Amino acid sequence: MKSFILFATVMVLFLGIGVNTILAAEKGDAAKGKTVYDNYCAACHGPEGKGDGVAAQALDPKPRDLSDAAFTSTVTNEHLYKVIDEGGPAVGLSPLMASWGGMLSEADINDVIAFIRQDVCKCKYEKK
Ligand code: HEC
Repeated sequence: MKSFILFATVMVLFLGIGVNTILAAEKGDAAKGKTVYDNYCAACHGPEGKGDGVAAQALDPKPRDLSDAAFTSTVTNEHLYKVIDEGGPAVGLSPLMASWGGMLSEADINDVIAFIRQDVCKCKYEKK
């Protein structure tokens, strides 16, 4: 009985750590990221990330549909960080995707990435 309790305790700890590691996979805080997104990104990328924000009509190329998991699961968080921090040209895209590094802190950018992953595309990076 004693050894069973020990075993159970170890399993609970082990599973607890496992779950925490999974939840902590994103560095950022998605709830805070939503505020960043609504303030700085939604005008172009749209309220749900579909690339249909109020300003999108006037843009060519169109803002990326970030809700499209078929796309968003193919790019790493490092890629997302670079585009958001340094702007489209840093990864060979249009300068219409501005660089936000001057306005957003590192934490803001990690938060917005967490929001994109958790609530916009509901996807993780999947290595192909
Ligand atoms: C002024 C409009 C505008 C705003 C505001 C804007 N974007 Fe973009 N974004 C674009 C456009 C246009 C593209 C597509 C560029 C291209 O395809 O060459 C783009 C592309 C992207 C991409 C795709 C990168 C890729 O590899 O295809 C990401 C990610 C992104 N934006 C995130 C954001 C985030 C996060 C914010 C808010 C911090 C933001 N954008 C704000 C216009 C905007």
